[in-house]
Amino acid sequence: MALLLKAKNKAVEAYAVMRDMTEFNQLVEELDNEFNDSWQPLDFDSGLAVLDEGKSEVLEFAVVGVSAADEQNLNIVTEYILKAKRIGLPVVLVVKDVNPAALHQLMRLGADDFIPYPIPDGALRDSFVNLRDRKVNNAEPEEKRKKRRHGFVLPVYGVAGGVGASTFAVNLAWELATASRKSDKRVALLDFNFQFGSVATYLDLPRREAIYELISDPASMDHDALAQALTSFKSRLAVLTSPMDALPLDIIAPEDVQKLIDIARDSYDFIIIDMPQALVHWSDNVLKAAETYFTVLEIDMRSAQNTLRFLRALKAEELPFEKVQFILNRAPGFTDMSGKARVKRLGESLGVSLDVLLPDGGKPVAQACDQGLPLSEVAAKNPLRKEVRKIAEALLEQVEADKAAVAT
Ligand SMILES: Nc1ncnc2c1ncn2[C@@H]1O[C@H](COP(=O)(O)OP(=O)(O)O)[C@@H](O)[C@H]1O
Ligand SMILES: [Mg+2]
Repeated sequence: MALLLKAKNKAVEAYAVMRDMTEFNQLVEELDNEFNDSWQPLDFDSGLAVLDEGKSEVLEFAVVGVSAADEQNLNIVTEYILKAKRIGLPVVLVVKDVNPAALHQLMRLGADDFIPYPIPDGALRDSFVNLRDRKVNNAEPEEKRKKRRHGFVLPVYGVAGGVGASTFAVNLAWELATASRKSDKRVALLDFNFQFGSVATYLDLPRREAIYELISDPASMDHDALAQALTSFKSRLAVLTSPMDALPLDIIAPEDVQKLIDIARDSYDFIIIDMPQALVHWSDNVLKAAETYFTVLEIDMRSAQNTLRFLRALKAEELPFEKVQFILNRAPGFTDMSGKARVKRLGESLGVSLDVLLPDGGKPVAQACDQGLPLSEVAAKNPLRKEVRKIAEALLEQVEADKAAVAT
């Protein structure tokens, strides 16, 4: 094993930071193979101190070992990752019996990769190779990179027709666009119902010719092609409506959906996607790209049964279930005691938490949709509008908090 003293004389290429080295014997061995003695083992306190010296030319990675015992005190791990990222040092986590929620949290802070412990054959090596490649590819001008936004992807999925997914998507996008006016966040709303999307109707927007080209010709899909296909609603919200003519949902290949989302991410802070009800072969790409996957349902049997099917499909494909946030639309009001009990029972029978409730907004909601205007423009005091506004504000707050955590 590499000795601290020896490593000090040589330029350090990697730090290995963990509470207890003896929990990660295999890692020590693999690091020896990879870096000989130019890696340095550290505990979290000295790891943090060493980062103050900044990043030398040869320093390549911080490998952070996290085990179940660290879950009691994730703060120091968190602090270490944030600090490493701030000086531009890539972080690889090696995780031993860590629960998924903790892992998710650490990855969200900006860790670049994670590897389970015991380490599968060659996995550590692969991770280093990938990160080195990424560094080469990212060698684009600093200026250009700074302009990229890395938006939040927020799809909205309705488990049954008419549950209110599009209404929620349209109004959430508009509330985000207007609530963030001061902070200058850019918001895009993408209608991925290529057959019968209703976003164009709900915002009374034309369906541009360029949309067909964008989604049917992946070779030419780039920032310009997206810009051509977008329409602006009141110059605050960028909208990709569905095309003029109904297209098959599989007109677009999974990797092209991915590409389209990546392109949108570069230019927008929030990307709301109105998803088709059908599960298509690109559904999981959207789910994987999402930060939160809003799933809208109502309190009836039809929604309950479809939700069960949806959950089973997620499980069968091992999709990231923890990203799904259920939204119960047309939920009973809080004065309706029997209604409240029904919500509780529904949540229990589905095994999910139903804590985001949207009220029935009555006729004005459908009227606003028909007029092609968001609720805030025609029925600002509508109870549905107020709830959607709150969700938008919470999302904005969360983004600001994340940003602050990275900046400090
Ligand atoms: N909370 C609500 N209160 C009143 N009307 C609603 C509510 N949510 C949706 N609606 C109405 O229900 C209809 C279907 O909504 P829509 O968003 O198109 O459903 P989906 O996209 O899930 O098929 C629309 O006329 C819409 O105005
Ligand atoms: Mg819809």
